[in-house]
Amino acid sequence: MDFRSSRSTDPEVDLLFREQIVREASVQFEKKFQFETAPAGTPLPPLETLYRSPPYTVPALQEQKRHLNEVKNRLNDFEISDWHQHTRKRSSLLPILNELRYRIRAEFVTQAFAKLYECVSAYELINTDLRELGSVHLCEAPGAFVTGLNHYIRLNCAPRTQWNWFACTLNPYYEGNCPGNMIPDDRFILHTLDSWCFGADGTGDIMVRENRNAIIRRRQRFPTVHLVTADGSIDCLNVPEEQEERVAKLHLAETVLALSLLSAGQHFVLKMFTLFEHSSVSLLYLLNLCFGELHVFKPCTSKPGNSEVYIVAKYYRQPDGIDQYLELIYTHLQTDENALFEQSTIPDSFLEQLHSCTAHFVRWQTDVIESNIRYYRASDPLEDQRLTIFKQTIMEMFFDRYRITPIRNGERIVHGVKVSEGPNINQKESRGTFNERVQLAATTDANRKERLRSLRERLDYLTLTRQLFQPEAMLNDTPLRGGPENGFHHVQHELAFAIGKPIERVKSSKFALITCVRLLNDTIDLYRTVCSSNDGPLPCASNDPITVTGNTISIAVTGYASITNIAHHEKELFRTIVRTLFQLIQQDCITSPLEHSPATGNDPLELIVENWLPLTQVSVGLLYLLKLYVFKDVEALSPTRIAFRDLRNSGVTNLVGIHDAVLKAYTKASNARPGAAKSVLAIVPITSLLDGGFHYAMLNYNNALCLIFCARLLEEIKRSVV
Ligand SMILES: C[S@@+](CC[C@H](N)C(=O)[O-])C[C@H]1O[C@@H](n2cnc3c(N)ncnc32)[C@H](O)[C@@H]1O
Repeated sequence: MDFRSSRSTDPEVDLLFREQIVREASVQFEKKFQFETAPAGTPLPPLETLYRSPPYTVPALQEQKRHLNEVKNRLNDFEISDWHQHTRKRSSLLPILNELRYRIRAEFVTQAFAKLYECVSAYELINTDLRELGSVHLCEAPGAFVTGLNHYIRLNCAPRTQWNWFACTLNPYYEGNCPGNMIPDDRFILHTLDSWCFGADGTGDIMVRENRNAIIRRRQRFPTVHLVTADGSIDCLNVPEEQEERVAKLHLAETVLALSLLSAGQHFVLKMFTLFEHSSVSLLYLLNLCFGELHVFKPCTSKPGNSEVYIVAKYYRQPDGIDQYLELIYTHLQTDENALFEQSTIPDSFLEQLHSCTAHFVRWQTDVIESNIRYYRASDPLEDQRLTIFKQTIMEMFFDRYRITPIRNGERIVHGVKVSEGPNINQKESRGTFNERVQLAATTDANRKERLRSLRERLDYLTLTRQLFQPEAMLNDTPLRGGPENGFHHVQHELAFAIGKPIERVKSSKFALITCVRLLNDTIDLYRTVCSSNDGPLPCASNDPITVTGNTISIAVTGYASITNIAHHEKELFRTIVRTLFQLIQQDCITSPLEHSPATGNDPLELIVENWLPLTQVSVGLLYLLKLYVFKDVEALSPTRIAFRDLRNSGVTNLVGIHDAVLKAYTKASNARPGAAKSVLAIVPITSLLDGGFHYAMLNYNNALCLIFCARLLEEIKRSVV
């Protein structure tokens, strides 16, 4: 029946129209597939056959992949922000999130909150009779699975059920992490730091063995782990067709880790995307043998036009000898391109089920994409009306089905702070069409003139659109600790060293916008290319970019571009600052190095640092300590110069103490065993550095200086290239 022509006049048709919508809405909650349970005791493929077979394809699955990609490729010329706006308008997600945020007032609501809630409710993943629960959340920043699970537990379990959790993720504070893979939003993490495990090297990368070991050790604190979630993904916006291969290793690492963490009989939730390649076949087969139930689920709050699905594996069987398998898989997964299981060890019946599963999900997804395309920029009042009713229906069904009501304030995880209202300065943004982004990526390989032009354009754009955060904020806005003349015992309380993988290049920072850091890195890359070609007059590769003249320490911008190990540079800068300060203090005729201020009547002591780009926790920590415990005053004299003034009474003692403690930490880091080389990653807690005005002033200063660095380097490059 064609409702479109007749519904507005005939009430009976109107009813049918609404029933049709209800049917369509119900389907959104039933995007599910369950694999047949393997008979208990079915052995895993023999250990010696693992990673022996070269990669293979399953033709029936490849056919599905081709079909899906054909439909997806029709989107390549749509401007992405425009397209996102269109699909957002059509999506039923927003009304649900709004209800969760404003009526339910749930804690830290994101799409992930809703998806997790669906998985846990739809598959009853929490035994509500238990009085003590344990869960581990892998690849979890910014943390809404955790707040979603808390909400579920508080509504469904007995009051005061004890719940222990910890989470792992690429560390948003580790400046060497690539922002494309990591979610820098730390609004929840900052208030729950003790519940996050960033591994032995501080990166949080679960693909690193010493981090995996650290996570397994941490799990020992829990008697039972009832649920492991793994929501890992990495940015594949520019290579959507390769998404499955790109994330395959991560998903396998998550699974191997989950199987080491989970207690027998308990459950695992894993995010995956398409399931066409041998990597997915092996992974799902492994789960099929290891669990009593294996489901694939697309929550109604997962964007219906993407390939995201959740694998829900229930009742962990913990097969005998599983640890040997996990160890072997983890050893191979990074480097071995072979298939985990030989195709011959996977029963046809399993492949047939997988085929049927992917066929369902591909159909659901392509239907949505096609209808989104149909209504793109089309004005259709009837469709708008249908959509309004559809969204309202889904929203009502969602709350009926999952019975979500508010919890008490005291039952939230974070008390006294509204997590969602905290600053999230580095929000993800994508502009342009897919084809434009591919072209932009290609300019990385383009000739130097083209790269120079593209970098100049980005610099102009950022300079023009640069926003100031709390413009009145100043570097002096550090909290007052322990009174105005705080002695060294206060500094000692403030110091907190983190040790981990040395940072070679700053790729992200809490103290600058990622767009600025990225532009600086791209500019430095071009600068180095031009330098290494040796045909220009560039003043490259000065080994030591730090020079001292009088009371001014200066960092050469071109020298900065040649630094290949930021950790090393920071240590040198720290030493230079301390050495210079001691010299200045001596010159100021301070007779006793302890507990004296400069002779009254002299000009107050002043130290100037020029072109200091403090992007890391170590640098910002040093600046913070100098301000709080050594000098009374710090000021950005200009966009490139920071001045420290007016020594505190206990400034010298504090400086000696800080110097000794920091050097001791560096020595400890260099002696750290076992594992790879280590360095100091932080000298004060991150919570101190992200405290109010000081943080915003640091952001504003660094953003401006990043752009100045870029402008200077581009000038140098221009002289050589043009
Ligand atoms: C979609 S987000 C997770 C969202 C989260 N479940 C929530 O509820 O807010 C994907 C996460 O995977 C993490 N990730 C990606 N690669 C990782 C790796 N190698 N090790 C650890 N975490 C990783 C990223 O840091 C990111 O936080």
